[in-house]
Amino acid sequence: MNDSPDFRVTFRTAVVPAAGLGTRFLPATKTVPKELLPVLDTPGIELVAGEAAQSGAQRLLIVTAPGKDRVVAHFAENLSLEEHLEAKGKTELLEKVRRAPNLLRVDSVVQDRPLGLGHAVSCAEAALGADEDALAVLLPDDIVKPHGILKAMARVRAERGGSVLCAIDVPKSQVSSYGILEVEEAPKSASLDVLRVLGVVEKPALSEAPSTLAAAGRYLLDRKIFHALRRIKPGVGGELQLTDAIALLIDEGHPVHVVVHRGTRHDLGNPGGYLRAAVDAALNSEEYGDGLGKWLRERLDLDSSDAN
Ligand code: G1P
Repeated sequence: MNDSPDFRVTFRTAVVPAAGLGTRFLPATKTVPKELLPVLDTPGIELVAGEAAQSGAQRLLIVTAPGKDRVVAHFAENLSLEEHLEAKGKTELLEKVRRAPNLLRVDSVVQDRPLGLGHAVSCAEAALGADEDALAVLLPDDIVKPHGILKAMARVRAERGGSVLCAIDVPKSQVSSYGILEVEEAPKSASLDVLRVLGVVEKPALSEAPSTLAAAGRYLLDRKIFHALRRIKPGVGGELQLTDAIALLIDEGHPVHVVVHRGTRHDLGNPGGYLRAAVDAALNSEEYGDGLGKWLRERLDLDSSDAN
């Protein structure tokens, strides 16, 4: 979508909050950080780093927690492994091993207490350059495909200023799991589905939900977000919520738009969503697609004949 001459990257740093305990993935996450669980063969954090790099980010800033150093270590070179693979002539594996360290610069900051997504984002402030007036935030639980949504969001910020979110339309039964947006029509933007955001409410009951459009883990935020984050009180779950800071900015007149994403979105944050992402990736792969597809069809046929 976006290598047109008018495209401007409006951010340098992509912040990835990765300090969570991964409780929905216990017992696996007792010792392995959730962000390192592989989708097929690639850790979720590398998928998100790849998306950030493709979108023009120059730096990934991982917000990590004490004891989760291995998430950042995934982006360091492993020279002895590389030498071993090189000596054995395993060039494909070598490329895979070298990919993460070569994607983009990776830095980290530590969120020492689990005070919520808003607090995690606020930990990034001190690590941004004084000239950075916007930042991207990518939640590593959310896989949004095809890539390109952040470039679209950057285009909207370049045209309209303010902050830009990404939304997906969710079933009514799921609104209480998301930040839900109140929106109104906005002037059309080329081929993009762009709406103006009038409000956002974190995890509402269905009766309180202003729509079924949910914030989907990709944010392009004006630096003003940090000032708002300093002024919010703990919200849903007793945590400092990013949505509450965005709502505060909107109330103060800051323009916020949303690009509606109509492609694939997977939630790696729970075993069911994670499995779908893995199956999707496997079905798309040359190596595993055919075999897995055949096996799945046989397996499902067996199930339906058992049911008859
Ligand atoms: C977070 C945000 C929520 C957003 C969701 C997207 O919730 O707080 O607004 O809609 O990510 O995945 P979490 O999934 O961390 O509970």
